[in-house]
Amino acid sequence: MQTVLALETSCDESAAAVVLREGGKINLLASSIASQVEEHSKWGGVVPEIASRRHLEALPFLINKVLIQADCKIKDLDAVASTVAPGLSGALMVGSVTARTLSALHGVPFLGVHHLEGHLASVFLTKKPPKFPFLVLLVSGGHTELIYVTEAGQYQRMGYSHDDAAGEAFDKVARLLGLPYPGGPAIEKLAEGGDPFRFSLPKGRVSIPGGGFYPYDFSFSGLKTAMLRKVQSLEASDKSLPIKDLAASFEQVVAEVLVQRSFLCARDQEVKTLVLVGGVAANKRLREMVSKEALKEGVEVHLAPMQFCTDNAAMIGAAALIRLESGVTTSSLELGVSPRWPLDQSDLLYQASPPF
Ligand code: KG4
Ligand code: ZN
Repeated sequence: MQTVLALETSCDESAAAVVLREGGKINLLASSIASQVEEHSKWGGVVPEIASRRHLEALPFLINKVLIQADCKIKDLDAVASTVAPGLSGALMVGSVTARTLSALHGVPFLGVHHLEGHLASVFLTKKPPKFPFLVLLVSGGHTELIYVTEAGQYQRMGYSHDDAAGEAFDKVARLLGLPYPGGPAIEKLAEGGDPFRFSLPKGRVSIPGGGFYPYDFSFSGLKTAMLRKVQSLEASDKSLPIKDLAASFEQVVAEVLVQRSFLCARDQEVKTLVLVGGVAANKRLREMVSKEALKEGVEVHLAPMQFCTDNAAMIGAAALIRLESGVTTSSLELGVSPRWPLDQSDLLYQASPPF
């Protein structure tokens, strides 16, 4: 039995959670999130300086709350974990310094967690977690990646976006349509009443210099430009914007691209389990399309639970527990934070001499 206090401060959600591994299962004892979304939405996106300050203000209260809820003392924990990469440096630093301070004061090991490993671990907060090997479609505000996971901590990136991440495309197109930040939920709500097949939009492909296309890679910047042109030409015609149809058509094409390339990869690699995680995994159209295709293809699908799609600390705690189970004991207290770090190098976060 192992218990971890986890902190997440990589972007615009301050979060703390206490998770427990018992009999091979990961259970959530307490989780709390202080979202800063409303404050950032005034600026149309995340303001790093504001994010860091709000994390500083929120974290002590969140930690106190989850420890009381979980009926847990810091000295009895098996580790204190925090996200250390990738993300906004100042924001990451708040969680990391807090976790390292608690670790040093109470003599509890510190674990630095890769944010994407956290997203991946969100499917282990379910009654029936996936069995290795599996293919993960990770779609968030900063990343769109297809990752083949052979065993815990062993990652092979099969595809990725060469420009905007899927969530970033939702956010930018939402701004174009005059919708608030974050764009994903706003577009989804509007799209419910729209015609997803009214406008035909490009499914961006990435060319290979010698000819052809990378089969599992993504590009969303052309789609964003196509949306801008559509909006401009519709505005020029002086009619009111068919905003619901625009939102629905955009959401449909993003979901189609993600589904088609993920299942092509699964088929080619003969992987029989597909996992969907990250903020964009909260999108209902995408969830439905993935589930439908999985049924057709005979693929087992694991969707991240809705409450653990967007950033939270429970998933960071789950990733820490999986690392502890695989034999990791601690990260160095000298491990800092990094705005970028490849997922397949996350083993280095547990080395005696840290990589950053
Ligand atoms: O995973 P996440 O909380 O943060 C990052 O690690 O980036 O993802 C946030 C992203 C934002 O771009 C947001 O617009 C998108 O996820 N998102 C959605 C939905 N909910 C959040 N996109 C589409 N549909 C949603 N329901
Ligand atoms: Zn995230």
